[in-house]
Amino acid sequence: MSEVKFYSRNPVPVEMHKVKIVQKLSLLPAEERLQKMKDAGFNTFQLHNGDIFMDMLTDSGVNAMSDNMQSAMFRADDAYAGSETFYRMRDKLEEITGIANLLPAHQGRACENIIASRFVTPDSCVIMNYHFTTAKAHVTRLGGRVEELVKAEGLEPKSDLPFKGNIDLEAVENCIKNETPENIAYIRIEAGTNLIGGQPISYENMKDATDLAKKYGILTVLDASLLQDNLYFIKTREEGMKDKSLREITRMICDLYDIVYFSGRKFGFGRGGGILVRDEELFHSMEDLIPMFEGFLTYGGMSVKEMEALTVGFDETMDLDIISQGPQFINYCVNELDKMGIPVITPGGGLGAHINASAFVDHIPQEEYPAGALVCALYLCGGIRGMERGTLSEERNADGSERFASMELVRLALPRRVFTLSQVEYVIDRVKWVYDHRNLIGGLKFVHEPKTLRFFTGKLEPTSNWPEKLVEAYKADFGEDQ
Ligand code: F0G
Repeated sequence: MSEVKFYSRNPVPVEMHKVKIVQKLSLLPAEERLQKMKDAGFNTFQLHNGDIFMDMLTDSGVNAMSDNMQSAMFRADDAYAGSETFYRMRDKLEEITGIANLLPAHQGRACENIIASRFVTPDSCVIMNYHFTTAKAHVTRLGGRVEELVKAEGLEPKSDLPFKGNIDLEAVENCIKNETPENIAYIRIEAGTNLIGGQPISYENMKDATDLAKKYGILTVLDASLLQDNLYFIKTREEGMKDKSLREITRMICDLYDIVYFSGRKFGFGRGGGILVRDEELFHSMEDLIPMFEGFLTYGGMSVKEMEALTVGFDETMDLDIISQGPQFINYCVNELDKMGIPVITPGGGLGAHINASAFVDHIPQEEYPAGALVCALYLCGGIRGMERGTLSEERNADGSERFASMELVRLALPRRVFTLSQVEYVIDRVKWVYDHRNLIGGLKFVHEPKTLRFFTGKLEPTSNWPEKLVEAYKADFGEDQ
C-alpha cells in the first residue's frame, strides 16, 4: 500500500508503525540557543545533540530501527574472520541485488575511498549525474576531476517534473568523446541525488546512461545510498512501474551496473556500508584495500550487531509500507511550505524537505553563505537543526576563489520513522515565522576555514549583530521560555 485513504477529511500521511521506545527531547529557551550557536561557531555540525529540539541535520545513521532489526542484533556472530553474520548479510544482498561479491566497509564514504583509490588516476575524469561531497573529495584527492551532467531542469528550484535527478545523455556522450573513454575512470550514478534536493532518477534514464557507458566500455557505478526513496518514486511516478514489485525494480536497477555501493546509514536503516562488485576478477582486484583501510573482509569496520540489523533493514527496504513514510512526510512538509509561499524545492524528493535559501534570504550575497545563515536562524528560532547544502559545502577553487554552489539549499532531513506529524507541523510553523522575519537575517563569514570539507569543522561569525536582533523578535512573539 502506498497511501491510506480518508473519508471525511483531507488525507495526511499515516505512519505504518507504532512507537515502542522513545527518547525525551527538550526545547531550550531562545537566549540559551543563541549562546549555543555562538559556541558552535555558527556551524550546525558543531552543536551538541542535547541542545537541539528537532534534529533534522541528516537521515544518516539516525533512522529508527524496527523491533525485528533490534532483535536480530542478539544473534550477531563476532569473529575477526569468517563471521556467520557476514555471510548472512552477503547472501541477503545477493538475493536482493543479484550480485554475489560483497566488500564490507564501515560507511558510504569508505566505499567511495576504495572505489576511487582503485580506479581514479591523476587527471582522469569521473562522470556523475550530481556529486556528493565525499564522493567528489575522494576523486579530487587522487588528482581526478568530476563532471556533473545532471539535466538542466534538475537545478530549477520549482518544477513538477518527476525525475529531476536524471543525467543529460547528450552531455554524457559529448563528455566521453571529448575526454576519450580511456580517460574516464567510471560513471557514478547517484539514485537519488543528495545535494539537489533529494530528487530521484528514473529507471529509464539509468538504463540509457549505462547503455551509453557500455557502448564505450566504461565502468558503471551506482551509489545506492538513497535508493529506498528513489525506489518509492520509480514505483509511484514512473510509467510502467506501478505493477512491478520493489524487489523486481531493485533487481532491474542493479542489473544495469558493474558496481553498486551504499551507505548502510541510509540504505538498510543501520550503520555500515558495502560495495557489490559483479565481476569476480574486478572484485579480487579491489579486495586488498579492505583489510588495509576498513578491517578484515568479513566485517570491514562494521559492528556485527549493526550488520545483523542491516540484513533485516535490506528486507524492510523492499516493503512499500516502510519506505513510503519518508517521501510522504517530506511531500507533506514541502506542500505545506509551498502553499504559504515559502520557496522550497518542488516536487518533494527524498531525504528531507529542501528550502531554497537563494530566494528565502535573497538579500544575502552568495559570498556570505545565505543557506548557512538561514540554517543558523532556524536553530535560533525553534531549536531546529538543518544542514547547509550550498556554497559552504563546496571547496574553494585552486586559486582560492569561492566556488559558488549551483543551488543554495537548507535541508531539513526527515530520518525515517523518527518524527511524528505534529513535530513536522511545528517545523512548518517555525519556518513560516522565520520567513516572515527573514529581513532580520544577515550573512556569515569564516573565522576558521579548513581546506577540505570545511562545512564539518569550520567556524564562522555573523557579519553583524543580526542573531541578537532575530532572537529579540522571536522572544517578543513566543516569550522567554521557548
Ligand atoms: N552517498 C550519498 C548519496 C550520501 O547521501 C552519503 C551520505 C554518502 C554517499 C556517504 O555515506 O555518510 O555513510 O559515509 N550522506 C549523509 C547526509 C552524510 O547527511 O546526507 P556515509
